[in-house]
Amino acid sequence: MGNLSDHFGDNAELTVEDQKMISAYLMENAADRSKHKRSARIVRSLKQTETPIRISELPYIVRQHDEIPARLIKGNPEVGSLSNCSTCHTKAEKGIYEENTVRIPGGGKWDD
Ligand code: HEC
Repeated sequence: MGNLSDHFGDNAELTVEDQKMISAYLMENAADRSKHKRSARIVRSLKQTETPIRISELPYIVRQHDEIPARLIKGNPEVGSLSNCSTCHTKAEKGIYEENTVRIPGGGKWDD
């Protein structure tokens, strides 16, 4: 949030008001503050000194996806990167990530 003019290579600058609102939301809902079970797992997956800036680099998230072949992520023109959560997690916008809501474009329903 401190350098939005270069947000992973994109200009994501916001009005001061929006920036304050989003920063406050992020602080209040950070994994180390949340009571959600998954948040606790995310925090536990990190070393105390570790603060990855990309969600796709969180050890917990990396682990959840380590069985998916690269051809379905990087090699998949409809996905391209693990950071495109909602291309596979059809209910991501509602905060739902359960396995039974996953549909990998070109890969169909996930069944491990
Ligand atoms: C290529 C498609 C794909 C993308 C992109 C993807 N996921 Fe997933 N995700 C999966 C699949 C498939 C599983 C189930 C893996 C398994 O259990 O073997 C999964 C599992 C998960 C789980 C665990 C679900 C559970 O039931 O406990 C979480 C949380 C999750 N993903 C979050 C994310 C987030 C956040 C992102 C974006 C940073 C993301 N995923 C991007 C396919 C994807």
